[in-house]
Amino acid sequence: MDAIVLLRDDHKTVEKLFKAFEKAGEDAHAEKRRIADEVIEELTVHAVIEEEVFYPAAREAAPDTTDHVLESVEEHHVVVWMLSELAGMDPADERFDAKMTVLMENVRHHVEEEEKEWFPEVRKAMGRNRLVELGERLEEAKKTATRDPLEVPSATR
Ligand SMILES: [Fe+2]
Ligand SMILES: [Fe+2]
Repeated sequence: MDAIVLLRDDHKTVEKLFKAFEKAGEDAHAEKRRIADEVIEELTVHAVIEEEVFYPAAREAAPDTTDHVLESVEEHHVVVWMLSELAGMDPADERFDAKMTVLMENVRHHVEEEEKEWFPEVRKAMGRNRLVELGERLEEAKKTATRDPLEVPSATR
């Protein structure tokens, strides 16, 4: 699969989880815990494969995207720390929904920038064959990626 199509599919999966979270009732603590845990896993794996495989390849193929890549890593940094906090927080805690809301705002902004502002440049620079080859590497990387947000490279860099 084309690398950018794969990453956009991940974004859609996460957006569906966000919508489900927003629809869950105020006191649906077990459901919110389950959704949050899925969000944590999806976004952790996604951040790892972007940081370890896609971002370096994008930067090399399209050096003009370097500033976008660097900004994206800083956004990941904030997101993975929020994920680690959500992992250890009781959904009944009054700060839980607030933290999820800010996480969703951050991720939606980040995804919009990736999809609108710089992935198209990468697509143009790489072309179809390289994107398909890169997509295979992303799929492989998913299998072994950590599920611990604080083990994402940007967490401690
Ligand atoms: Fe990203
Ligand atoms: Fe992404």
